Amino acid sequence: MPEPAARRQQQHRSPGGDDGHRPGRPIPPPAEPAPGRGGQVSEAAERLVTALRHRLGRPVPPEWTAALRATPRDVFLPGTVWLRDGEGGYERCDRATDAGRWRAAASADEPVVTRLDTEPDGWQRPVSSLSAPSTVVRMLDTLALRDGDRVLEIGTGVGFTAALLAHRLGDGQVISLELDADLVRTARGNLAFLGRRPAVECADGARGWPDGGPYDAVFATCSVRGVPGAWLEQTRPGGRIVVPWATAWCAFGTVTLTRRDDGGADGRFTSGGSSMPLLDRTAHGPGPERVDEPPRVSRTGLSPWAVAGEDYTAQFAVGACVPGVRHVWDGAPAPKGVRVRLWLDDEAGGSWATVDVRDGSVGFVVAQYGPRSLWDEAETAWHWWDHHGRPTPDRFGISATRDAHTLWLDTPATPCLRPSS
Ligand SMILES: C[S@@+](CC[C@H](N)C(=O)[O-])C[C@H]1O[C@@H](n2cnc3c(N)ncnc32)[C@H](O)[C@@H]1O
Repeated sequence: MPEPAARRQQQHRSPGGDDGHRPGRPIPPPAEPAPGRGGQVSEAAERLVTALRHRLGRPVPPEWTAALRATPRDVFLPGTVWLRDGEGGYERCDRATDAGRWRAAASADEPVVTRLDTEPDGWQRPVSSLSAPSTVVRMLDTLALRDGDRVLEIGTGVGFTAALLAHRLGDGQVISLELDADLVRTARGNLAFLGRRPAVECADGARGWPDGGPYDAVFATCSVRGVPGAWLEQTRPGGRIVVPWATAWCAFGTVTLTRRDDGGADGRFTSGGSSMPLLDRTAHGPGPERVDEPPRVSRTGLSPWAVAGEDYTAQFAVGACVPGVRHVWDGAPAPKGVRVRLWLDDEAGGSWATVDVRDGSVGFVVAQYGPRSLWDEAETAWHWWDHHGRPTPDRFGISATRDAHTLWLDTPATPCLRPSS
């Protein structure tokens, strides 16, 4: 039985191959002259504000319009970026050789990958990006900042969001944490180029930055599977925590929590993009990948696309209800007659499942291994979601304490099937 991890890598292998970028290589310094600076910057910023108004469907709030005008995005874009290649991977774009495309990426309301790791088998993994301005503005707006507020940002990247925050609140009110030392240097340089000096520290954001707290808001641009206890401790009662959400199943949605007086926090989700994960310095690898038992074979009428297709509201709900379960599609499975296979595996190890789509067959063949019946769990979660009217993330909420998170539907009285992890 091939191990799920190997399948996953095959599935994500990009046709683009190794682009020569290596982790640890410094990103080109920000002071290098770039096309689009000077007189054209304000035009680009103006165009961006107009594009955001259309994307958000409402005027950009005045404080963020002013911040965007003062923060030309091209200052933050390294000379080499990675743009989607249309086939699930990324292709390199250099300012020196492809200035038009590079400039278009700088002024578009789209995320731009600024750091990419390429694994030995060619799988390309984005590790840092410049977020899409509309995503950033939408999230910043939910912070409901007031003059004088202090904010802790997690995930500085190249420093764009830190610059917006520093423009809104003043340099001394913003502390931004980034795990990658090269990016810290780059972000400090980019910010200094614009005359901004918020504190940018090289640190694991999961621990927060206790010396600067308590904060009026904690704002993260990398996704979490649970709110770190340090963020709860370092946010003042009534303060806000805004963070993109992920489960082992998928990364989708953003949660806005308000800190309670007792140290916990409650909040609600909104639909919306995905973000790269908060990297965990303490993470361990997966558990044992093999089980010595025959599979439990059955059939299902529920399509694997229902739980793992393009409906991210379904994926969000399934992820909330099946803790620690990952999924990956295999479009070219080895067994004869199997057209597509969905793999599920428990990231703790020991359990996995396959759901096969066979030519000319009604229904789908399921094989489950290990102590957990992962497909049964996913199917039960889907039916729970369907039974409740297929709710979107906006109907979900969370109550968090240092030790536990409960995801609920509409009110805390209706917890999701199982705790998320
Ligand atoms: C989407 S990027 C940041 C975007 C950025 N805020 C901007 O202005 O465009 C997410 C960043 O989070 C950083 N990151 C991931 N895990 C982290 C951690 N545990 N602590 C601090 N930063 C982390 C990554 O290195 C990456 O640069």
